[in-house]
Order: sequence, then structure tokens, then C-alpha cells
Amino acid sequence: MKTIHSPLAMTAWCKALRRERVVIGLVPTMGALHEGHRALIRAARLRCDALVVSIFVNPTQFAPTEDLATYPRRLTQDRALCRQEGVDACFEPTAAELYPEGFQTVVSVPLIARRWEGESRPHHFAGVATVVAKLFGIIRPDLALFGQKDYQQCAVVRQLVKDLHLDVRLLMRPTVRERDGLAMSSRNVFLSPEERRVAPVFYQALVAGRRAIERGLRDPGSVQSVMRKVLEEVRSIAVDYLAVCHPHSLEPLDRIDRHAVILGALRVGAVRLIDNVLAERKYR
Ligand code: PAJ
Repeated sequence: MKTIHSPLAMTAWCKALRRERVVIGLVPTMGALHEGHRALIRAARLRCDALVVSIFVNPTQFAPTEDLATYPRRLTQDRALCRQEGVDACFEPTAAELYPEGFQTVVSVPLIARRWEGESRPHHFAGVATVVAKLFGIIRPDLALFGQKDYQQCAVVRQLVKDLHLDVRLLMRPTVRERDGLAMSSRNVFLSPEERRVAPVFYQALVAGRRAIERGLRDPGSVQSVMRKVLEEVRSIAVDYLAVCHPHSLEPLDRIDRHAVILGALRVGAVRLIDNVLAERKYR
């Protein structure tokens, strides 16, 4: 496995492969890789010839008050996991290389980024869209994989690719969970043992909401009540938002006709968790 730091070297490596009609796959990450990342890497491995995993804790998607400095960094283990999964190249640029002096361009996807995560993190998705556009520019992958765990991020990237006519196929893969349902996340390490014990109630609430929709509930408010009832049992949990939305626009639904995504964010102590499930009304 190659480890490549410079964007120029990365571009050159990919360019040589492209000349030989090699299909290039990309899994963008911020490192601290866990089983969720591994599942994306495996899904990518099956679908391309040359697989690149980028590891870059992107400063522009963190607000000054957020956890950029304490975000977990485990490069040695990350490289080992990549090697194990047959990754061809780890792209590990520095912030100075990706955002050199004089850097100006920002990609924003204002409508999809406006609500939900965007509300409490106003610059977050512009940071994500900008770095993803850079990675796509440097690597020019045929295929890029993202996790459903960050559903709004997937929607932002889908819009970015459409709006900028980028020639890359996107694939969203299901959320990988712990045995008790908690979505895997690099930030789960910040949960205290007690917080970790109660955290799975988040997924239980989402599943209760999904079941209510599957059984025919049309009113998003009623679905929210079902979910809040499940969460009420745990006093250390504060709901940030729980929303029943259109699966593409992410706008809140007035009425559930068929497909919906339930997006949620909550705080367990000081740790903020996000999760989501897709739901389909089965009875008309
Ligand atoms: P990061 O949080 O490291 O996640 C990298 C990819 O792994 C994302 O597509 C994310 O949705 C996916 N992922 C994380 N947890 C997952 C889980 N439990 N199951 C399935 N997939 C999971 O998301 C980012 O990094 C950054 O915003 C990035 C896209 C790299 C841009 O900086």
C-alpha cells in the first residue's frame, strides 16, 4: 500500500492509472477508522480496481468551538486497517497542502445544508462540500462511497456532484451499528460508561418511529411523539432535533405518503450524536 501526502503526487498516481483504464474508487474519511469505515472500504474494494482512502481531519468543517483539536487521530492503526482491507493508496495530505496560502474558493450547497446539522453547525457543510470537491479534483475517482450514518452529508455531496457536473458515481452504504444498535462513530469514545449504556435508546426511538410509519401513520407530529416517548425514559438525553423528512430534499414532510427519512441529533451528556433511518409506509 502506498502512502501519499502531496496532492500533486496523488493526482499523478491517479492519472497514470486512468491512462490504463483502471477504475478508481475513493472512500473519504477523517481517520480513527472503525467498522463503519471498514464496511465502506470493503464495499469499495469489490467495485473498483484501484482503491484510495483519504485520511484528513478537515479543519474547515469544524467551527472554532468544536472538537478539531481533540478529534481522535490514530494514523498507524488506520494504515494497518487499510492495508488489511487491500487499499492501494492512503492519501494523507496536511492542512497546509490542501489549504495553501491564498486559498479562496468555497463550495456551498445552501438549501440542503440549511436545516438540521446545518442549523447548529452553520459552516459545516460548506467545509465538507469544499474538501470533497478538492478530493474529487485531485483523485478524479470513478466511484466514491459515503455512509448513510451522515445522511445529510450524502445529500449535500449528491447535490454538489449534480450541480458541478462531476463525473463520479456515488454510492451510499448502510449505517454499521454496535450490537445494541448504537451507530458506530469516531466520537463514541467520548461517551462515559453510563452515557454509553443509555445511548442505544436513540436507535430504539428511530426504530419505533419507523415502525409507526410502516404501520400507516401519516402525521409526522404523531411519529415524533412516538419517538419522544421512547427517549423521555432517559433523563440524561436532550433532543436537538427529530424530523420526518423528504428523503432527497430533506425538507420536513407535512404528511407521509410513502418514503421518508427520520433524521435525529441528540446530546447524551456533552456528546452530540446523530443518526437516521429510512422508512416506507406500507399500507395505503
Ligand atoms: P468520517 O466521519 O471519518 O466518515 C467517513 C465516512 O464514513 C463517511 O461517509 C461516513 O458517513 C462513514 N461512516 C461513519 N460512520 C459510519 C457508520 N457507522 N456506518 C457506515 N458508514 C459510516 O464524514 C466524514 O468523515 C467527513 O465529513 C468527510 C466526508 C471525510 C469530509 O471531510
